[in-house]
This record gives sequence, structure tokens and C-alpha cells, in this order.
Amino acid sequence: MRKPPGKKKPLDRLFKKLSQECKNSSRFKDSRPVFSEGNPASPLMIVGEAPGRDETRLGRPFVGRAGTFFTKILEDALGAGRGNFYITNTVKVWPHLKTKRLKTRAPLKSEIDFFLPYLLEEIRIVRPKVILAVGRTAFGSVAPEKKFECGAWTKGVLGHDVVSVYHPAYILRKKKDLKKNTDELRSILKKVKKSLGRKS
Ligand code: URA
Repeated sequence: MRKPPGKKKPLDRLFKKLSQECKNSSRFKDSRPVFSEGNPASPLMIVGEAPGRDETRLGRPFVGRAGTFFTKILEDALGAGRGNFYITNTVKVWPHLKTKRLKTRAPLKSEIDFFLPYLLEEIRIVRPKVILAVGRTAFGSVAPEKKFECGAWTKGVLGHDVVSVYHPAYILRKKKDLKKNTDELRSILKKVKKSLGRKS
């Protein structure tokens, strides 16, 4: 889908600056940042935690096992392809342990802090109606003063409506509650769809 020109250029500039900042940092100079995808004119901004192995290989957010699981439910519940929405991550590089087969780990606070100004700038550029925070890391970044509660609506740090859901990797890991948590995710996303149709 073609991105409308109004937001595309500022986003391109922002990601160029971030690429450069990663290259200049001793910590991220060898990382391959993964930026956003989708439609910046969308009223819905989806904020995940961080890219994983597959996302890094393909250079796209939400395309690994958990991301594919999540986007399938998203597309079903919202009745539209993922390209219609703006999809990004809090941390733009893959947090991993340097074991023999690199192993995904939770992002460190210092990593979240490094990327946070970029996420906030993305929000200022995109100006979504609703931010869907996928998991606690995303929620903590967009609504730092608030307590994470799956499915609850709140106001984020920049005044946007924020709704949070469990991270798909957590849903997939917690096998005994898989159906319950998947049904809950679907039902929250249906409420998001309704809210997008409302005037304010
Ligand atoms: N894929 C991503 O890019 N981010 C997530 O938070 C989960 C899966």
C-alpha cells in the first residue's frame, strides 16, 4: 500500500537518523534495525516489543512465529490486511543472548531508553487515534505512569488512547490458557475495530 506523502518523509528522515545513531553507537553498530511497516495514515498504531530472529532476517516487524500468530488474529478481527495499519516496535533491534544459537531475551531498560525518543517521535508523526500496546514493554513505554491491564483502555504519555494486550509470545508459551487468551485477544481487537469507527 502506498504511504501518504505527509507522514512518509518525516518517518523516513527519522529512521535514517536512527540508523545513523545505531551505527555510531558501540552497542548497536553491528545490529540490523527493523523499522515500521504499514500505513502511517491509519488511525491504529500497533506497538510491539522488539524484532526477533525472523524479523531481523527479513527486515520486517511481526513476521516471526509470534508475529504471524498475532497478525492473523488481528486481520481476522479487524477484517483488513495488516498493510492497512501502522506496525512498529518499541526497541528496533533484536535483543538476544550471544549463545551458540543466538537466543531471544527481554529488552533491557537501557535498550528501551535508547529507542524510546524514536517511538515517541513516530507517535507524534503518525498521530494515531488508538495505540495498541502489544505486551508490557510496549505498554510501559507509551503509558509509563499506568498499570498494565490486558484489555483496559487508558491515556498514553502523549494523550492518545492506549489499549494493551498480552504479548503473542506469552500467549503461545502459556499453552494451558492458549484458547482463553486467544479468545480474549480477538475480543479486545473487535472492540478496537468498533472504536476506530467512532467519531471521537
Ligand atoms: N514481532 C515483533 O516484531 N514484535 C513483537 O513484539 C512480537 C513479534
